Amino acid sequence: MPDTLTILDNRTGKKYDIPIENDAIRAMDLRQIKVKDDDFGMMTYDPAFMNTASVKSRITYIDGDKGILHYRGYPIEQLAEHSTSFLEVAYLLLHGELPNSPQIDAWRHNIKHHTFIHESIKKLMEGFRYDAHPMGMFISTISALSTFYPEAKEILNPEVRQKQIYRLIGKVPTIAAFAYRHSKGMPYIYPDNNLTYAGNFLSMMYKIGEPRYTPNPVLEHALTVLFILHADHEQNCSTNTMRSIGSSHIDPFSACAGAAAALWGPLHGGANEAVLRMLDEIGSKDKVPEIIKGVKEGKRKLMGFGHRIYKNYDPRAKVIKKLAYEVFEVTGKNPKLDLALELERIALEDEYFVKRKLYPNVDFYSGLIYEAMGFPMDFFPVLFAIPRTAGWLAHWQEHLDDPDQKIARPRQIFLGAAKRNWVPLNKRS
Ligand code: ACO
Repeated sequence: MPDTLTILDNRTGKKYDIPIENDAIRAMDLRQIKVKDDDFGMMTYDPAFMNTASVKSRITYIDGDKGILHYRGYPIEQLAEHSTSFLEVAYLLLHGELPNSPQIDAWRHNIKHHTFIHESIKKLMEGFRYDAHPMGMFISTISALSTFYPEAKEILNPEVRQKQIYRLIGKVPTIAAFAYRHSKGMPYIYPDNNLTYAGNFLSMMYKIGEPRYTPNPVLEHALTVLFILHADHEQNCSTNTMRSIGSSHIDPFSACAGAAAALWGPLHGGANEAVLRMLDEIGSKDKVPEIIKGVKEGKRKLMGFGHRIYKNYDPRAKVIKKLAYEVFEVTGKNPKLDLALELERIALEDEYFVKRKLYPNVDFYSGLIYEAMGFPMDFFPVLFAIPRTAGWLAHWQEHLDDPDQKIARPRQIFLGAAKRNWVPLNKRS
C-alpha cells in the first residue's frame, strides 16, 4: 500500500495524492489544492493546535490515553524513583542521554558556577513593590538578564549558547528565592554551592541566622522529585511559546521570560495555585456535592482536573499523590488533603467527568505539598518555572538546530471587511 492520502476535491473533481510521513501529511502539500490558478490554495484551520504537529521532537513522549510520560525514552516513574538529582534529569533532557560520572561532575560544576546573580540584578529586584506577585518578579528579572549578557544574542554560536544554558539553569532558583525573600522583607541569601540544586534552593528560601542551612532530607528529596516531574511536557503552551519566540532568533533570556509568562496562566502552570484557592473556598467535605453540581452546570471548572493530552490519570499526579504522604510525615498532614481526596473520589465516579475523561492532573496534588512545605500560594507557579526552564531550553535548542524550522508564523482565515474607502469624520454614522 502506498504511503499516501488521496484527496478528492468535490468542487473541481480533481484528485491529489499527498505523501504520508509519520502518520502526518504536510500542510504545505495542501496548497496545490485550488479551484482557480490564482487561488491562494487550501489551508488547514486548527485553533489551539488541536491536531497540528508543528515540530518533530526527540525529547519527551506522551501517550495521553494510556497515561504514559517518557523523557528521552525513560519513564517518568523511573526517573522520579531513581534519579539522584534534578541536574541529572536536566542533562538528560538537554543532551539526550543520562550523563556518566565525569559528565555529571562537569555539568554540576558549570551550573553551580552560574548560580550567583549580578548585584545590580539584586538591586533591580529591590525596586519591586513589597506585594509584587513573585511570578511577575521572576518573569521580569529573567527578561532583564538579557541586558546583563548581551552576547546571549549569538544563539548560533555553540559556546555562547551553552553558557546561557548554564546561566539560566543556575540562576532561576536564585531569582525565585530572591523574589520570595523580597516579598517577605527578608535579606537575600546567596547560593550555597555545596548543597544540591533543591537543597540550595531551600537554603536561599528559608535560611535565617544559622551559619549553614541543612535541608530536611525528606523535603529536599520531595522537591527534587517535584522538579523532575515538572521538567518537561513536550509541546505545552509555555514550551510552544519558548519555541515560537526563539524562532525569531532572540536571546534565550527573553524567550524564557515569554515562556514563563505563558506558564503563569490559570489554565496552565497557574492551576496549582487555583486548586488551593478552590479548596480554601470549598472549605469542608459537605460542600463537595454542591461544587460538583456547579461544575456540571458549567458555572466553574474543577481546577487541577482535565488535560489537553491526558485522557487518563496523569502519571505525574500518581507520583505526587504518593510523595504527599512522605512529606506530611515531616510537616504534618495538610488538612486540605482529605477534601482533595473526597473531591477526586466524587469526580471520578461522576458521569460528567467519566464521559469527558477528566482526571486529576499534575497540579491537583502538588499545591498541597508546596503549602505543607511552607511555600505561599502565589509562589507555586514559580516552583513550576524553575525546573521547566531546563525543558524550555531543551526545546529551544532542538528548534534552533532543526533545518525544517523557520520563524513561527501561522496563517489566518480573514473574515473582516473587504477594501473600502476612508470616510471623513463628519460623514461617519
Ligand atoms: N472542570 C470541568 N469541566 C472541564 C474541565 C474541568 N477542569 N476541563 C475540561 N472540562 C470539560 C469542558 O468544559 C468540555 O466540556 P464540553 O465538552 O461539555 O464542552 C470538555 O471537558 C473538554 O474540555 P476542553 O476545555 O475542550 O479541553 P481542553 O483540552 O481545551 O482544556 C484544560 C484542557 C485547559 C487543562 C482544561 O481541562 C482546564 O481548564 N482544566 C482546569 C485547569 C487546569 O487544571 N489546568 C492545568 C493543566 S496541566 C498543566 O498545564 C500543567
